[in-house]
Amino acid sequence: MDLYERIAEAAGYIKAADPRTPRVGVVLGSGLGEFAETVADPTAMAFADIPHFKNVGVAGHAARLVLGRVGRATVAVFQGRIHYYEGHDIADVVFPVRVLAGLGGQSLLLTNAAGGLNREYRPGDMMVIRDHINLMGVNPLRGPNDDRLGPRFPDLSAVYDPAFQDVLAAGLAEIGRPAHRGVYLALSGPSYETPAEIRMMAALGADAVGMSTVPEAIAARHMGMRVAGLSCISNLAAGLAARALTHREVLETGEKVKGDFIRLLTLAIPRLAS
Ligand code: HPA
Repeated sequence: MDLYERIAEAAGYIKAADPRTPRVGVVLGSGLGEFAETVADPTAMAFADIPHFKNVGVAGHAARLVLGRVGRATVAVFQGRIHYYEGHDIADVVFPVRVLAGLGGQSLLLTNAAGGLNREYRPGDMMVIRDHINLMGVNPLRGPNDDRLGPRFPDLSAVYDPAFQDVLAAGLAEIGRPAHRGVYLALSGPSYETPAEIRMMAALGADAVGMSTVPEAIAARHMGMRVAGLSCISNLAAGLAARALTHREVLETGEKVKGDFIRLLTLAIPRLAS
């Protein structure tokens, strides 16, 4: 079965469970999953039950798809994501985003937890992604291209939709939070970076660093979706704070910001649908 048929089968399973067409998809990052509980009229399904979905094994990630409403927008919320560092093929990492497009999704909001490189960022801040640097060492489009999904050589000169950046920045201002806009640099992980690597990445122009988002953004642009990206700065990057990094710290910051994160998404998502 080729990729196109696998997408159709997964989308068919989801449509049979709930026929609503999600306009907007949302991928929730580490420690940020609770937003899914706020979705109105929800239909939830486990990734494990959707054909061809890989399962997710990280603490802080449920593995569910929740279809429902945020305001007037019909949404598909991926509560948990498939990470490359778990050992999955990069094509499997972006499969949920491909299925979102298969369901008729037109917009995608990618969220993540990230380390802050920019000296103005503080843990708990949120950064609107304005561009990315892919240092994961892989590209989700490698391999045969199916022209029904998108072009062989997609343009990435505006991955993160400028109007969507404005929506997120305006939302941050409305909830009284600093509206940083920055460059997200993606690595494969799962080890955190060394201080020398962080100095290199800052010199390259990165404002935040993490282990996700970039593959999904590339696949979404491949299929012509409009993309928004939001990083929750969970910690200062390695060497910028006087202590070691832990996944626990990432989850704890997620816990602290979740109220504002939920407020922001509740405001912004209906605006990403119109
Ligand atoms: N580095 C990489 N990924 C991360 C970090 C970090 O400091 N914080 C949260 N995800």
